Amino acid sequence: MTDVKPVKTDEVRKALDDHLAQWGLKRWATAREYLAWQQRLVSPETLERFAEQTERRRSGESCADIAFYDLSAQPGLFPVLHSQRYDYYQTVGPAIAFRIGDALSILDFGCGVGILTTFYARLFSDRHFVGIDRSEASIAAARRKADALGLSNVRFECLDVGADLHGPSEAYDLILSTHALVQHERDPGLPSASWRTFQRVRDADQQSMFERRTGMGARLDWLTSTLTRQGRMIALEKTRQLARRVPFQRAMAARGLHLIEKPEPIRYRIFEDEMDDGPLYHVRKGVEPWLEWDESPEPDDGLPFDPACVNKRSRDLSAPLYENHRPSAQAAWERLIDRRVTKEETYREPDGRELHVELGIANGLAYLYCANTFDQRQLVVFESAHAHALESYYRDIVEGMSSSLPPRGPSGTGGANGG
Ligand SMILES: C[S@@+](CC[C@H](N)C(=O)[O-])C[C@H]1O[C@@H](n2cnc3c(N)ncnc32)[C@H](O)[C@@H]1O
Repeated sequence: MTDVKPVKTDEVRKALDDHLAQWGLKRWATAREYLAWQQRLVSPETLERFAEQTERRRSGESCADIAFYDLSAQPGLFPVLHSQRYDYYQTVGPAIAFRIGDALSILDFGCGVGILTTFYARLFSDRHFVGIDRSEASIAAARRKADALGLSNVRFECLDVGADLHGPSEAYDLILSTHALVQHERDPGLPSASWRTFQRVRDADQQSMFERRTGMGARLDWLTSTLTRQGRMIALEKTRQLARRVPFQRAMAARGLHLIEKPEPIRYRIFEDEMDDGPLYHVRKGVEPWLEWDESPEPDDGLPFDPACVNKRSRDLSAPLYENHRPSAQAAWERLIDRRVTKEETYREPDGRELHVELGIANGLAYLYCANTFDQRQLVVFESAHAHALESYYRDIVEGMSSSLPPRGPSGTGGANGG
């Protein structure tokens, strides 16, 4: 098998298209076309088994996760399943390939069937790659493909990192981890200190609970111990939400891994939908930290509320004058002029999670503000003549809160941490 040495992004993309085709992956523009193809290629029984295994995996147990990936790696199934991730590969593959740099020995942790590992090994035939995964069937598929591609610079090993007692047997200049370190997609992460802030307190117990729940702590310990003295790691995990991003960043920092470039938000399509993923972290061990970890929400394009603009507009009373459902709603709420709360409720769970909703008047206008400790914010402003729309919305929220969260009692005495 020839190996290509593309230097430009479009050449890398083209090489990756060829590579994905060799794995039997196809790109589909719409979910409908993809599903029609899936049904032609995969039997209804297999699809049913896959759906059952997907459901079992939601338990978060590692045996269910391994069984899921074992099934996904079956020869008739994996090209079809992985075709859904075509744009993911096309986004992540080049982003990582351009950062391989001078690394000679590279570990791809949680390599799955090795689609990306074999791509990197083909691009960099003078480097040595090791792919590790705890799914035996995935490792078997990876080995078969590496043989078929005639690759002699890549090896695949079956190991449950962080659970097996094996220590690392060799050291790596670079570790890659894409969608493998912080599984448990349903884990909401760490709540902020109160509904008033996006900040997380530095609480060692909360942090280690998150690391244990997701299994990330033990994996990261193992991985960091395999890095050479100034080894690097490139990690892309589902940590875009601040509540997951903060504990992931803190876990890396606590293990002496420091940023060597600004984390890069990753976005790709799954058929018609845009997916926000990442960010992609590039960190190095054993260097002085020189880039700060950012623990603030990502900037969004929500504009502050400007009463001066409102006064000039022709007003449709039934439409909100302002609506913001993003983190920037907090700054807009803080800047409301002459803000006076008329009603408010804050509910709190024993673990510190909070949900707050308030109705108020600001500069003669009616507003509703809603905030929780998972960084959701909502500010809606109406003409005061139309305040009843907000009243009923407020009641709905309060009723919803009381059925799901124990009441914290009337607030107004400051947030949980006074923040
Ligand atoms: C979502 S797949 C990602 C595959 C590949 N890295 C990619 O980006 O396409 C996650 C993989 O991580 C593997 N994995 C999860 N936890 C692991 C662990 N503790 N040790 C080894 N492999 C693990 C799973 O078996 C699965 O194959």
